[in-house]
Amino acid sequence: MSQSRILVIYAHRQPQASRVNKAMVQAAASLPNVTVHDLMSRYPDYRIDVEAEQRLLREHDVIVLQFPFYWYSTPAILKEWQDAVLAYGFAYGSNGDKLRGKKLLVATTTGGPGEAYQAGGYNQYTLSELLRPLQATANLAGMAYQPVFSTSGVIGMDDAALDKVATAYHQRLAAL
Ligand SMILES: Cc1cc2nc3c(=O)[nH]c(=O)nc-3n(C[C@H](O)[C@H](O)[C@H](O)COP(=O)(O)O)c2cc1C
Repeated sequence: MSQSRILVIYAHRQPQASRVNKAMVQAAASLPNVTVHDLMSRYPDYRIDVEAEQRLLREHDVIVLQFPFYWYSTPAILKEWQDAVLAYGFAYGSNGDKLRGKKLLVATTTGGPGEAYQAGGYNQYTLSELLRPLQATANLAGMAYQPVFSTSGVIGMDDAALDKVATAYHQRLAAL
């Protein structure tokens, strides 16, 4: 079987200031079957080219949404991308089958530690619970939602830990 074509939709408010996601993106880009698409660098004015984005989605088998967790959700540019690109007739509704059968992987990093993301922890909810809107979106579009790739407690992470995250991400993408 030929390798799956993987599209990493990368959303960061300030890509140049990123540490963890930057390392992950570099690891992803070293795989020959991965295309990294940095939304903020491409659309600093948030004016998304819907046709170009839909074309990219059609050309890939696996869609990865990679982002730092902001306010228990995605960065604004990724929400704008969802609202503009996942349109009626494309992602859902009549003839809206263009994403059907593709895999969707969410890859995210959180400042909060892992133990905060549970009932009784200071964030009260698990990451799986907080990411339900993306899971429901995958469901509506007929995509196969993959177990999330998440790294918690990333603030001040040392270089060795950063390397481990990048390697684990590389391995996870290679196995898709
Ligand atoms: C606007 C903003 C909102 C954030 N909201 C959250 C949050 O809801 N939960 C959390 O655990 N961390 C939150 N953080 C921390 C980021 O997730 C963290 O800085 C990021 O994952 C680090 O990745 P980077 O090195 O690629 O920037 C927030 C950070 C910013 C700037």
